[in-house]
Amino acid sequence: MIVFNEPLIIGTEQENLNQVIRGGYFCGNGEFTKICETLLANQFQAKKVLLTSSGSSALSIAAELLDIQPGDEIILPSFTHVGTASAFALRKANLIWCEIKTLTRNLDEEALESLITRKTKAVIAVNYAGMTDNIDKIKEICTHHSLILIEDNASGIGADYQNQPLGSFGDLAIISFHQTKNIHCGEGGALIINTPKFLQPAQKIRDRGTDRKDFNEGRINTWTWHLNGSNYYLSEFQAAFLFAQIIKLGEVNFYRQSLLKGYLQNLKGILPERSLPLIDENCYSNGHCFSILTESEQHRQYIIDKLHQKGIQSAFHYQPLHKAPYWQGLYKNLKLPATEKVAETILRLPMHHNLCLNDINEICQALADAFTSGRNHECK
Ligand SMILES: Cc1ncc(COP(=O)(O)O)c(C=O)c1O
Repeated sequence: MIVFNEPLIIGTEQENLNQVIRGGYFCGNGEFTKICETLLANQFQAKKVLLTSSGSSALSIAAELLDIQPGDEIILPSFTHVGTASAFALRKANLIWCEIKTLTRNLDEEALESLITRKTKAVIAVNYAGMTDNIDKIKEICTHHSLILIEDNASGIGADYQNQPLGSFGDLAIISFHQTKNIHCGEGGALIINTPKFLQPAQKIRDRGTDRKDFNEGRINTWTWHLNGSNYYLSEFQAAFLFAQIIKLGEVNFYRQSLLKGYLQNLKGILPERSLPLIDENCYSNGHCFSILTESEQHRQYIIDKLHQKGIQSAFHYQPLHKAPYWQGLYKNLKLPATEKVAETILRLPMHHNLCLNDINEICQALADAFTSGRNHECK
């Protein structure tokens, strides 16, 4: 069986966990947390990076930092993970769903511009699959309209655009260390702070709204409650596990890049060009995922079944968020044709560190056969 995803284990995780047990400090903001944050701040060329319990928690801190009030408008794609939206929906922001571009699945910058109003407070750009073709343009639009840009870079660690790390374009950015990501700690995430004014409040919000960190580090005599916040720390166990993987990030991403290239080389000229993802020549992808567009929902299901018969797992995502049951039909008249078409036809192929190029060749052969026979079948 060629599985769709396998969580990474790179080697020294166990040793680091033992070190935590021996050291006796288990909760948030220990030595492993601090060293991970330093490495990540270098990686992202950021003012500061704060580890959090998940990518969603990092987005909750962002929503709190922006003091989101009911009715504030947030522009974001509907073709994304629920975590992109939920912190803002919780605060009763008005979510303004923006169209994506079919070939890159990134926010459509022209559609974005037309959605900006006096109530717009922020734009969330998702670097789909750790790639972008337009984050610079989105940033320009945000700067022009004095809007905060939040980069949802959940899957984009180690990728860059125009030689600048993804995650360094937004005023704030987030990453996820969920086990499906290139590097992980089971559940985890980080808030990347690129605008200095957010640094102090973000640290308090992560620490239950308190200044306990200043107290622990000897800068004040007593600590107390200042802001709305929660416990968004991850434990020292998770940071220790993550540290083992952060130091191998370059190697992991380089390998995934070679798998991504393997997919593209195999499928170029075999699948129609419109089915293959477009990787901008200025973008260095981290090989987070590989997806194609099939001809229809039925065609996709046909291919999934055929691959399954050959022992190859495949999957799809995202269900457009504006159509989710959560909204009880609120957006039923909203039409986002590119979003809906991509959601209906996208197919994701296996991508993880334990695959080899022979696996990719085998998957591509099976995929090409199924793609063609499915087209000739009844599923147009
Ligand atoms: C685009 C995007 N945003 C946000 C999240 C939420 O991250 P987490 O699962 O760490 O909360 C994910 C998770 O996969 C994601 O893919």
